[in-house]
Amino acid sequence: MAKYELAVALVLGLSLFGLTSAGDPDILTDFVVPPNVNNSNLNGSFFTYTGMRSLVGGNPPTTFTVTKASLNEFPALDGQSVSYAVLEFAAGSVNPPHTHPRGSELLFLIYGSLQVGFVDTTNKLFNQTLQTGDIFIFPKGLVHFQYNANQTDFAVAVSAFGSASAGLVSIPVTVFGTGIDDGILAESFKTNVTTIEALKAVLTPPPPKA
Ligand SMILES: *[C@@H]1O[C@H](CO)[C@@H](O)[C@H](O)[C@H]1NC(C)=O
Ligand SMILES: *[C@@H]1O[C@H](CO)[C@@H](O)[C@H](O)[C@H]1NC(C)=O
Ligand SMILES: *[C@@H]1O[C@H](CO)[C@@H](O)[C@H](O)[C@H]1NC(C)=O
Ligand SMILES: *[C@@H]1O[C@H](CO)[C@@H](O)[C@H](O)[C@H]1NC(C)=O
Ligand SMILES: *[C@@H]1O[C@H](CO)[C@@H](O)[C@H](O)[C@H]1NC(C)=O
Repeated sequence: MAKYELAVALVLGLSLFGLTSAGDPDILTDFVVPPNVNNSNLNGSFFTYTGMRSLVGGNPPTTFTVTKASLNEFPALDGQSVSYAVLEFAAGSVNPPHTHPRGSELLFLIYGSLQVGFVDTTNKLFNQTLQTGDIFIFPKGLVHFQYNANQTDFAVAVSAFGSASAGLVSIPVTVFGTGIDDGILAESFKTNVTTIEALKAVLTPPPPKA
């Protein structure tokens, strides 16, 4: 991916964000400075996140990879109701069904093609195959996925979130990777404990939530 493509993507993503409504609680100050930062020494660096620089001109992804710029990585986002993630899809890779409980997601596909979809609360599936340059909205809290069906080429998307800390609930990990009783899961999924254990075996516990 050319350098300018990422730059254009980020600029467009930012301007689009003005159209979405905020999700986090309003703050009573212009911005929020963490206690460990000396307020009187603040300058532009506090409002700058450089953790995406390594992606520019980097190697194509070999797995599905997420690089986040959310409250956890970028404290200046506190109270601003916005954050970013760059999603890199290796050929044939999937971002399994998941939700973001605190924010909607505006995905901008900047390289490759991508199958995406979400399911609403009436269990209706809305899916689409995106081309480079397309933008897709995943409504707040709904289960969604992305899949790069191309078996030879990678894909890259930039996602903006309507929360500084949109949160992640991975359906496979939450259900099968957190120690819920085998019998309860077997009953819930109308299957047997052997099948549940096979599913559990391949799913590791989730990383600490931001
Ligand atoms: C914060 O920075 C100012 C200006 O450099 C300094 O005078 C003050 O002692 C610092 N405060 C703390 C708590 O370090
Ligand atoms: C801005 O603040 C950072 C962190 O306190 C400091 O390292 C940097 O030198 C400052 N930059 C300028 C131009 O003062
Ligand atoms: C939507 O998903 C169905 C399978 O559920 C698939 O057959 C169809 O091709 C998908 N549509 C798009 C536009 O990706
Ligand atoms: C997959 O990638 C190859 C190589 O870039 C390209 O020729 C092909 O058109 C892509 N296929 C799809 C379905 O986008
Ligand atoms: C468990 O369910 C799977 C899938 O239906 C089946 O193939 C398997 O034989 C079952 N195992 C036991 C021990 O019942």
